[in-house]
Amino acid sequence: MLSLNRVSKQYGNFMALEEIDLEFTQGVYALLAPNGAGKTTLIKMLATLIFPTKGEILWNGDDIIALDAAYRDLIGYLPQDFGYYRNHTPREFLRYMAAVKCLKREQVAQRIDELLDLVGLSDVRDKKMRKFSGGMIQRVGIAQAMLNNPRILILDEPTAGLDPKERVRFRNLISSLSKDRIVILSTHIVSDIETIASSVILIKDRRLFAQDSPGSICQQLNGKIFETDAVDDLDIPHLLLTERQENGQTITRFASEQGSGEARSVTPNLEDVFLYVYRDEER
Ligand SMILES: Nc1ncnc2c1ncn2[C@@H]1O[C@H](COP(=O)(O)OP(=O)(O)OP(=O)(O)O)[C@@H](O)[C@H]1O
Ligand SMILES: [Mg+2]
Repeated sequence: MLSLNRVSKQYGNFMALEEIDLEFTQGVYALLAPNGAGKTTLIKMLATLIFPTKGEILWNGDDIIALDAAYRDLIGYLPQDFGYYRNHTPREFLRYMAAVKCLKREQVAQRIDELLDLVGLSDVRDKKMRKFSGGMIQRVGIAQAMLNNPRILILDEPTAGLDPKERVRFRNLISSLSKDRIVILSTHIVSDIETIASSVILIKDRRLFAQDSPGSICQQLNGKIFETDAVDDLDIPHLLLTERQENGQTITRFASEQGSGEARSVTPNLEDVFLYVYRDEER
């Protein structure tokens, strides 16, 4: 088990995260928060690239900083902006990363081919990456993070720049990778994790706001989410969430403490929660 005990991170005088308590056992943990909320800060601490100002991060009770290389052997990490040589092929890039990670040469070749197969890049394993789509690059990134078959796979905004088809493919891949490990990923895009996250972590105002299954998180808004096709007639305090077109009508979804006339009560989804929780943040 990986756990954070009252972890705070300060950059100079700026407090980025404050007294975060978290536990990770197995499954997909989605760090869902708007830009600048501290997702990368948290992830870099988990990857031991930066260190908590206060508090501790423990792997099965041992401080990850003290575990040092033994901990790093357990993790795979995809940074928010991962660097690669455009003229490398996926195979060359993975060979290079395996050398950086000091993996044993004899095991590497087969592992690389297995991983490229897993992420669906076998066909292009010897093509230069300069012509790859965003989704293909991200899959190479996931493959390099998987080289050491990590117990803990940490992905910072792995879906940035993916098209809809690539997003579906990504979700399936992450689901399959999470069977026997901890996967921690950050995103501010709800649909990327709604169906695959076993646990959603919301950070707000530098602190942990909630950690729960998507279903339980959504339940917090039970009875507070409504839809109407006559938003202009609403006479109650409300927060506009989303709009959609249906049979030529504009259906407006909103949050309110109370119902009103024609408005239908609907089941809250994770997007509602995100818009509601971060309602005061700039968009
Ligand atoms: N090295 C640093 N020095 C000073 N402030 C920093 C540093 N790194 C991050 N910050 C600040 O800490 C806050 C959290 O940044 P962080 O990158 O962790 O957020 P994020 O949730 O990953 O954002 P994004 O969605 O844009 O990637 C921001 O206000 C950022 O400006
Ligand atoms: Mg970030």
